[in-house]
Amino acid sequence: MNKNVLIMLCSLVALAGVSGSAIAAGDAALEHANVNIRDTAAAQRGARLFVNYCMSCHSASYMRYNRLAEDLGLGEDLVKEHLMFADAKIGDTMEVAMRPADGEAWLGKAPPDLSLTARARGTDWLYTYFLSFYRDEAGSWNNVVLPNASMPHVLWQLQGIQEPVIVEHDGQPTVERLELAQPGMQSPEDYEETVRDLVTFLEYLGEPAELKRRNVGIWVLLFLVVFALTSYALKAEYWRDVH
Ligand code: HEC
Repeated sequence: MNKNVLIMLCSLVALAGVSGSAIAAGDAALEHANVNIRDTAAAQRGARLFVNYCMSCHSASYMRYNRLAEDLGLGEDLVKEHLMFADAKIGDTMEVAMRPADGEAWLGKAPPDLSLTARARGTDWLYTYFLSFYRDEAGSWNNVVLPNASMPHVLWQLQGIQEPVIVEHDGQPTVERLELAQPGMQSPEDYEETVRDLVTFLEYLGEPAELKRRNVGIWVLLFLVVFALTSYALKAEYWRDVH
C-alpha cells in the first residue's frame, strides 16, 4: 500500500516537472493565433503551403491524401493535381522522401513528423514560431521561441529577413524584439495571414475529427437538455400519484 502511494507521489512530481519544463521552454511571450478551425478555405491554403514548403523535410504520416480530399472539400482530382507528388497514390499517407538519418546528417537534427505538432505545441506557439525567425550575428537562422533551431526559415522569401534588437538582461544578451531588415514578397499583415492559414492546417492535422466532434457535441448537449426536461416532467407525473 505504502509503496503504491510512493509511486503515485513520484508520478505526480514527474508530471509537474514535465509541465514545468514545457512552460520554461516557451518563456518567450506568445502571440495569439486566432485560428478558426471552421475556416475551410484557410485550411486549404494551409495544406498547399504545407506541401510546397514543408514536405521536403517533414512528413504527416497519420494523414492520408484521400481523407484530406474529403475533409477539406477538395475532391480527389484537385488533391492529386495540386497537393501530391507524382509517384504518390491517393490512399497514401503524407510521407516525406527524406530518410531521418539524412535529415540528421544534413540539418543536425531529423525533422519531426508534424501530424501532432499542433497538439503538442499549441497553435499560439506555432504561430509565434513562424513569426520569430531571424538572422543572427553569425548570419545563420535562429528563432526566438525555439533558440538555435536546426530548421532554416523556409518562408523567408515571403516574410523577408528579420534581425534582432539585443539588450542586456541580468548581464545576458537577450533578444528584445525583431526588426524587418529586408522586406519580403508579402507585407507583414499578409505574412501573418499566411502563417494563420498554415497553422489552421496544422491544427486540422492534429485532430482531423475536430469539426465533426464539435458539431456532434452541440446535438449531444441539446439532446441532454431535452432528455432532462422530459425526465423531470415524467418524475413530476409519477410523484403526483405518490403524494
Ligand atoms: C530544410 C528542412 C525543413 C523544412 C523545409 C521545414 N522544416 Fe520544420 N524543422 C526542420 C528541422 C531540422 C527541425 C528540428 C528543429 C530543432 O528541433 O532544432 C524542424 C522543426 C520544426 C518544428 C518544431 C517541432 C517541435 O515541436 O520542436 C515545427 C513546428 C516545424 N518544423 C514546422 C515546419 C513547417 C510548418 C514547415 C513548412 C512551412 C517546415 N517546418 C519546413 C526542418 C525543416
